[in-house]
This record gives sequence, structure tokens and C-alpha cells, in this order.
Amino acid sequence: MRIDKLLSDMGLATRSEARAACKSGQLLVDGVAVRDSSSHVDPAKQSITFRGRDISYRRYTYVMLNKPEGYVSATEDSKLPVVTELLDGELQRMELFPVGRLDRDTTGLMILTNNGPLAHRVLSPKHHVPKVYRFSAAEPMREGVEEEFRDGVTLADGYECKSAEILLDSDRMGGLITLTEGKYHQIKRMVASTHNRVVTLERISFGGIKLDASLARGEYRLLTDEEMEMLENHQ
Ligand code: URA
Repeated sequence: MRIDKLLSDMGLATRSEARAACKSGQLLVDGVAVRDSSSHVDPAKQSITFRGRDISYRRYTYVMLNKPEGYVSATEDSKLPVVTELLDGELQRMELFPVGRLDRDTTGLMILTNNGPLAHRVLSPKHHVPKVYRFSAAEPMREGVEEEFRDGVTLADGYECKSAEILLDSDRMGGLITLTEGKYHQIKRMVASTHNRVVTLERISFGGIKLDASLARGEYRLLTDEEMEMLENHQ
């Protein structure tokens, strides 16, 4: 593949920055400076060093973000801060977007990628990718809510939710809810259908990938190979 494409796919340089960097000898292939950014390299067979750093090429990037409150799950918004603003410049250039949405006041696990087909696949209701949320409620959750959620709650607009699991804390003031779909405000509306109200909501797992407890709100890291496989295996 072309060197400039490789560098821009990885968010390391725009095409014109790649051209200038190559000209000034900052790109080495198998230890030799390549001055022309339109030259081809084989990242599987050749070693590539850019600005002193060894590069292992990946077509797609996957980031785990611990979303703070107050951010919109989007790449741009005319008024409000968006989750992609939390990423550093290198990742911002990779045109990552959030896989699915969390409300502005929902916190926790958000995956961002530039792999459109994969995002589409894992969000499709066909694939039943489980998402686990920790919530707290304004009042104790009523008796029997476990069965109601399991049998499928009907929302105020008549939508019949798929079966969901709810595991309550001993005081019934919150707990964990597992969904395999993702309708607008779904958990808030499910809890509202039981005449109660969600106070806080945090996603702690997506498709088996767990929110990394070492990430503070607003922090992120790349997915590990194992986590990427978990995502890709939701075929
Ligand atoms: N359900 C909600 O109500 N909000 C979210 O952000 C996610 C699930």
C-alpha cells in the first residue's frame, strides 16, 4: 500500500504531512529512508519507522472511552461538546465515530471506531449484542419487575421491548440491566413504565467487553487484540 495512505489511515499524518515527512527522511522502510510518500510498502513484511517510532499497521482503530456526563455521542454538534473531542489529535484525524449512542447524561463504556461495517453489524438488532448498564432509581423498583422485564416491557408509545434482564441491588434502588437492543432512551423509558425514574445510568459492558476500571471519566485506551476479536466475532 502507499506510504501516505498508511500514515493517514493510522492518523499519524495527513497526505501532505506524509509527503513533507518523507522528503525530510522521517520515514524508514527496513531501516532505509524512503523520500517519496507515494511509494508502496508491505506492512506485513517490511518494518516501518516513522519519526523514530516503529509502526504496526492496522486498517481500523478501536477505542474504549469512559464517557463523562455532558458529552453528546456524535462527531459534531453545533452547541454541545462531543465525545470525539476527548481524543488526542492523532486519533481525531482518524475519523472515529461512536458505536451507538449514549444519552448526554449517561456515562461509561463507549466504543469508537472507523470501521463502519463492523459498527453497523454490532448495532443491528439481528445480532443481539448484549449491553449491560448500571442504574440507580428514584424509588425502590417495584416487586415483580424482574419478570416484567424478562417478558418484555411495553413502553408508553406502545413499543414492545425485547426480553431484558434486571438484577437488583438488595435495597431495590438500582442494579444492572442487560439489553440486546438500543432504542432511544430505552432504559429510562423502561424504568418509567414501572412508574419510577432513572437517576444515574452508566454502561459497564458492550458485547462482552467490560469498561476498564482503570479509566477515569473522559479517559480512553485502544482496545486490546482480545477485545477487538470479541467485537469482530459478533457476526
Ligand atoms: N438507555 C437510556 O435510557 N439511555 C442511554 O444512554 C442508554 C440506554
